[in-house]
Amino acid sequence: MHKFIARNLNSSVEDSRVRLFAVYRVSVTEIPEHLLQRSRERRAALGGGDASPNTPAETTSSSSAPVSAEAAVPSGPAPRAVAPEAAAPPPPEPDSFVVSRYRSRKKVPAWAMAGLALLPIWMFMYVRSVTAQAEEASGPLAIGAEQYATCAGCHGGNGQGGVGYQFSEGEVLKTFPNIEDQLRYVLYGTGAYNIAGVVNYGNPAREGGPHLTGERGVMPGFAGAITDYELLGAVCYERYSLGGADPDGDYAEEFEKWCAEESEIFVELQGGAALASIHETHESIIEIGDGPADGSPPMMMEG
Ligand code: HEC
Repeated sequence: MHKFIARNLNSSVEDSRVRLFAVYRVSVTEIPEHLLQRSRERRAALGGGDASPNTPAETTSSSSAPVSAEAAVPSGPAPRAVAPEAAAPPPPEPDSFVVSRYRSRKKVPAWAMAGLALLPIWMFMYVRSVTAQAEEASGPLAIGAEQYATCAGCHGGNGQGGVGYQFSEGEVLKTFPNIEDQLRYVLYGTGAYNIAGVVNYGNPAREGGPHLTGERGVMPGFAGAITDYELLGAVCYERYSLGGADPDGDYAEEFEKWCAEESEIFVELQGGAALASIHETHESIIEIGDGPADGSPPMMMEG
């Protein structure tokens, strides 16, 4: 069955080729009527034979055969008309499937080429704009958002808690009503507090009970691991971005002093000042110091 179809297919393809070839040859070998007419007239003029255009066959078979043979030589146009037949090019082969598909393929339009040429420039500008933005991040909260990546593994990306305590929903503010105690604890960590024998690192009167050193696990100290201004940024981020402290309400004074973009303390830390001794140059700050110390209850709000 398959063989039959294949043979049929083959022969029909060959058939059409032969037919094509035949048509081509016929159209080429046909001698135009005006040329025939001219040669008849020539022959008539030279041989004086029958000039009748309607009887060309008679001319060749007439008695004046040598004359007509002679006449045939100079009558240029007739043989020339036959010449193309010998030089006739072979009929064009039909394109194979692959070639015809290649010829009819969609090409990239000119306007798209222009776009493609601009692509490397666009990529260069895009990369620059992205990196420039990263460099521009400034202020305690922006720096803190970056630094918090160090803390997120134990405290959760949104401060929801994990191995370490929860910060969100005001939890971190309950432990540390004063930012200085939080800064101190993050600086030195559980190990140093254990060694120093400091049990209450936060508010001893914490709502829901105080958080005691080592109660939950071991919090690494970050002094020396990150800079002091980065550490302040992370703590600001925990209090204001995650913990829910209101920079325009109860925490306005603290925010302005420590965590606002124009915070003098932050700028001084960037300039090389240390958290441990920052109380020496600023009023009404709880001393952070160079080691663990007891946490403090909320300071009396001054009228
Ligand atoms: C390896 C896990 C881990 C990492 C990383 C970590 N912490 Fe902690 N954190 C803890 C643990 C555990 C505690 C509880 C310590 C204890 O019980 O003494 C804690 C406690 C705290 C507390 C006290 C919270 C409370 O309400 O008592 C603060 C504040 C804190 N971490 C801040 C940070 C900051 C800021 C970073 C990042 C710079 C950080 N932590 C990174 C595990 C971690």
